[in-house]
Amino acid sequence: MSVDTPLRPSLPEQTSTPAPLDPQAAPNTQVAPDPQLRPDGTLRHLLTLETLPRAVIERLLDRAQSYVRPLGEPPPASAELAGRTVANLFTEPSTRTRVSFELAAKRLGAQVVNLEVQLSSRVKGESMLDTIYTLEALYVDVFVIRDAEAGVPGLVAENVRPHVSVLSAGEAHVAHPTQGLLDALTVRQRKPRFDSLAIAIVGDVRHSRVARSAYHVFRALGAGEVRIVAPPAYMPEATEFTACVRHTTLSKGLKDVDVIMMLRIQKERMSQASLPDADRYFAKYGLTPERLALAKPDAIVMHPQPMNRGIEIASDVADGPQSAIRDQVRNGVAVRMAVLSAVCAGRGTNLK
Ligand code: CP
Repeated sequence: MSVDTPLRPSLPEQTSTPAPLDPQAAPNTQVAPDPQLRPDGTLRHLLTLETLPRAVIERLLDRAQSYVRPLGEPPPASAELAGRTVANLFTEPSTRTRVSFELAAKRLGAQVVNLEVQLSSRVKGESMLDTIYTLEALYVDVFVIRDAEAGVPGLVAENVRPHVSVLSAGEAHVAHPTQGLLDALTVRQRKPRFDSLAIAIVGDVRHSRVARSAYHVFRALGAGEVRIVAPPAYMPEATEFTACVRHTTLSKGLKDVDVIMMLRIQKERMSQASLPDADRYFAKYGLTPERLALAKPDAIVMHPQPMNRGIEIASDVADGPQSAIRDQVRNGVAVRMAVLSAVCAGRGTNLK
């Protein structure tokens, strides 16, 4: 099936049998060291959660939790990153990720530059790597990169100097690791026993980097069950999400789950012909109060935002008592502080 296969909402329910959630088979148990880690095991880059050891993920979540404050209290601040420079390079639009990386870096005392890529010399044909080398010469220590093209954060990570770190802020449909961490932190705050949880990832799974990173982090943390629920056209290939039960209807997919993670329809990654009709989509896949009632009574609702209200989620669910969506945003700053702190701490005291 092509990525752009149109939505076919009239197909009957399909349920697949997944590979078992066997921790021995999980990719995190691989023997080869994760190239995102330094030889001493500290985090240098963060490009994906797929290969990150569970212990590293848990340390990042613990650290992030230490930065969480109730709204209304002053946010945490330190001079931990004093003397460091963080550059945000975003070639795709962003509100939450860009602002929270900037706030995180500033609250840790770093200097921050935000490169408006459409105003930079890339529009004159300068390659991404030449832009990176220029910023390296200006003493940038950490690059935060969002790019619509798969492979860009990894290419940059392979080409920066040893003291420099690269953090993905969203790579095409492939990965959004800090979103995965903030999603895991949000779940953990409310439901700390991952092994007893059933989690449904719902909507346009096929085009979603958020879904991929969520799948990797929930698996790494030993979630009892991770399901995907999507129209057939928005199901990922069978080679992905192999540990998930697959459902094509909300009536089965939401039954008795503890966590519902709704996804945005990724219009920017679809052809015109693949775009769903908004009313038809909402009628079949929108999360309404009635459908939320299929889940456990204390289930939480998440959405990475930006939300298409009235298409994938009803406003009274998004703003309702079971919604954890604003906690996700708040946790985003804490998680990005934890990641920045980790990559800079591991670098040692090499500032002169
Ligand atoms: N969730 C998320 O990545 O939002 P932004 O696109 O606003 O950064």
